[in-house]
Amino acid sequence: MSLHAIAPTASAGPTFTALPPLSLYVHLPWCVRKCPYCDFNSYEARGPLADIEYVDAVLRDLRSELPNVQGRHVQTVFIGGGTPSLFSAVAIQRLLRGLAADLTLARGAEITLEANPGAVDAARFAAFRAAGVNRLSIGIQSLRDDRLRALGRVHDSREARRAVELARTAGFTNINLDFMYALPNDDSAGALADLEQAVELAPTHLSWYQLTLEPNTAFERRPPPLPADETVAEIETRGRELLAAAGFVRYEISAYSRAQSECAHNLNYWRFGDYLGIGAGAHGKITLPAMQAIERRAKTRNPRTYMETVGAPAACNAQRLTEPRAIAVEFLLNALRLLEGVPQEWFVERAGLRIEAIAAPRREAVDRGWLVNEPGRLRATPAGREVLNRLLELFV
Ligand SMILES: C[S@@+](CC[C@H](N)C(=O)[O-])C[C@H]1O[C@@H](n2cnc3c(N)ncnc32)[C@H](O)[C@@H]1O
Ligand code: SF4
Repeated sequence: MSLHAIAPTASAGPTFTALPPLSLYVHLPWCVRKCPYCDFNSYEARGPLADIEYVDAVLRDLRSELPNVQGRHVQTVFIGGGTPSLFSAVAIQRLLRGLAADLTLARGAEITLEANPGAVDAARFAAFRAAGVNRLSIGIQSLRDDRLRALGRVHDSREARRAVELARTAGFTNINLDFMYALPNDDSAGALADLEQAVELAPTHLSWYQLTLEPNTAFERRPPPLPADETVAEIETRGRELLAAAGFVRYEISAYSRAQSECAHNLNYWRFGDYLGIGAGAHGKITLPAMQAIERRAKTRNPRTYMETVGAPAACNAQRLTEPRAIAVEFLLNALRLLEGVPQEWFVERAGLRIEAIAAPRREAVDRGWLVNEPGRLRATPAGREVLNRLLELFV
């Protein structure tokens, strides 16, 4: 516990006077094969995909959530996985029709779908577009075939390039590409060559993640040879320069975008907005002003059990956050990932706490050079972002 733990507020818990924007996350859990580094709630698809049955379960899940979001408009939808592009056109159409029937989607809402280059085809992309998907996020990871093999990917670089071409042909103009760096046996020349080729594919957005060894993955059990810290630091410094020179603005730790092409869905998470989470293992966060609480909701992870039990109380683990410190830390954990930080009014509005509650740890973080000394804004310095967990400990 830090010396500067959050000061007690006048009331014991948070007070919410306004509601933040609302998003919707839909989890589709199957993949062609499980990648050895991946700890997402995803499963190798064995046999025919129960995609229609699953979509119907997801729509039942949505109906069970509606009482929590009466009258609110949904600003963004993200269909993630897993590999949503494995789902048939009919299943995705059914999903989007069902969402539109039960929810009010904001005009021009961003609707993203994740695709794996090993599970795409022209007709399916065209049907996804026609069904209302207006942003594609394609998991490419690398354009070096030896690295793709080392990552256990089901596609090669030719298929990855083809996926981007197919997306364009289908009419997608808003395209994110996921790339990873610090791959097994990686060097800085290879990683930067990857990034150059990513830029040549001319996406509107790039997510550039450092490969991490996650618990309960094949890579954690048998770690591949990863590059040294100095190599990783060099890749990051030069990679960020390369992306900036190519016109990509870094707006979050791993997110880079062209002007006006930030991912509105992810921005809502980082800005501590609300979101419904439907599908196996999906997480949601909803502000409940009547309860003066934030509710975190998590669905059953196993897809089969999920489909059988969805909508029943046991299929959803709900936890109410009322403890000011826990809420403040969650708020900052998200907001301080953003390079521009957030206006401090959002702390008051979305964490439901008085700004004085964090005055002492905030001062301490400024003194340590971890927070920018900027009235009206909560923003980490580059040094603060590097040690985000230590920075957050000041607020615990
Ligand atoms: C749900 S996946 C995206 C779509 C699709 N399943 C695919 O892999 O092509 C989200 C992204 O997270 C990133 N990712 C997954 N595991 C990671 C890890 N251990 N370290 C860093 N990034 C990871 C990958 O870039 C991946 O594309
Ligand atoms: S395809 Fe994506 S979600 Fe599926 S196992 Fe690989 S990284 Fe994970």
